[in-house]
Amino acid sequence: MKMKMDFNNMLQSQIGEQGITEECIKKLATPIANANKAMVDKRAAGKMAWRDLPYNQDQVVKDIVGYVEEMKNEIDAFVVLGIGGSALGPLAVQQALNHPFYNELPREKRGGYPKLYVLDNVDPERLVYFFQTVDPTRCLFNVISKSGSTSETMSQFMIVQQLLEEKLGKEGAKKLILCTTDAESGNLITIAKAEGYKYFIIPSAVGGRFSELTPVGLIPAAFCGIDIKGLLEGAAQMDAICKEHENDVYKNPPHMYALLHYIAMTSGKNISVMMPYADSLKFISDWYAQLWAESLGKKYDINGKVVNVGQTPVKALGATDQHSQVQLYAEGPFDKIIVFLGVDEYRETITIPKTYSDMPSLGFLGGVTHNDLIKTEQAATEYALTKAGRMNMTLTLPKVTPQTLGQLLYFFEVATAYAGELLNIDAFDQPGVEEGKNATYAMFGRPGYDAKKAEMDAAPAKDDKYVI
Ligand code: PA5
Repeated sequence: MKMKMDFNNMLQSQIGEQGITEECIKKLATPIANANKAMVDKRAAGKMAWRDLPYNQDQVVKDIVGYVEEMKNEIDAFVVLGIGGSALGPLAVQQALNHPFYNELPREKRGGYPKLYVLDNVDPERLVYFFQTVDPTRCLFNVISKSGSTSETMSQFMIVQQLLEEKLGKEGAKKLILCTTDAESGNLITIAKAEGYKYFIIPSAVGGRFSELTPVGLIPAAFCGIDIKGLLEGAAQMDAICKEHENDVYKNPPHMYALLHYIAMTSGKNISVMMPYADSLKFISDWYAQLWAESLGKKYDINGKVVNVGQTPVKALGATDQHSQVQLYAEGPFDKIIVFLGVDEYRETITIPKTYSDMPSLGFLGGVTHNDLIKTEQAATEYALTKAGRMNMTLTLPKVTPQTLGQLLYFFEVATAYAGELLNIDAFDQPGVEEGKNATYAMFGRPGYDAKKAEMDAAPAKDDKYVI
């Protein structure tokens, strides 16, 4: 089973003057060739270590599966403490592959696996309400941080650690804390070793938002009974397609995806809408939004020139957002690409009864399945946007399985890296995030941030006149 990409509606032949031509792609032969080469060279030089994850984790998978077997009956819930790349992937994969009301199911219907919670934010209400909902002494808390020092995650960890130690003592708490982090950087690995916590390693050359196929995503998935080998197999399948066609953009779906978005950006289409027509894929949009935004939104190119590039990701859901955002997509500014994410075969079928066959405005629905309804609505929205001259394209999974999801995750990662090459920027750093982090540290008086504090104190004060 292989995912498909249909990009007809990105082209002039379908949408008219707003569309892309083959001529336009031909003119980019040099940047395309450079990007192809960079993808190969960087991988060979170990600068894209995430590309090798489908192949080098046999032992990791064995260790994870063994650990899940050891722990799963000891706990009622598996709780992720992480943020950004350390939370969005675990959530997206679980939502895609498991029952939509997984946590509400009785344990036997969850295959005997624990519930899953992803607590990524530091909203003060979140943890308090969480502890009112579950018994923390029956949870395994997975502290996930690549850097090992993210304030949000580490603060949650310290609160949880204190609570568990109060209830269970140090030894009892130890069993319920699992760390996933870099082998060297940050405090988390030091703490894990000192406290004797079980830990798994995130390969140091794999950055946060590219880490879903490391223990970051594999452990939470395995604790929910997801076939993690299948996820990696799917990623390998997409990688094989990319390798086979590394120099032919017309046969390399992620490269073409990136190229079309790149061309669109150069003509002012600075918004990338991700619109799955499947609730199971709703959170893939959140994961994609981080990947696309944080990787491509850059001030400088690799030569240090100010370029201020990037494309704003927007999350939508079909058919829900047909009744909210699609009006804007069809008639608003020509500043977006809409990516439909469809499914050929849903896992369930439900048929609408022929209750009101004598009422024409309802009768046509009688006997139709929701499967046909949602697919028809997707096709109809695609048609309407195409008619309105709006760039759109469709990615289709034959069915949502670990393999096809692995293909999709890997597809987006390669597309993001390739778009970075075309934009001539570093897709793997995030300097823009640092300023806010440093300002937070300065405001808390963290040692080493005096200069930042002085800079902030010298900034123009706000005028009360404008606070109304
Ligand atoms: O992509 C990234 O690097 C970031 O979004 C990180 O995933 C996020 O900041 C969390 O970082 P960490 O895993 O180091 O706690």
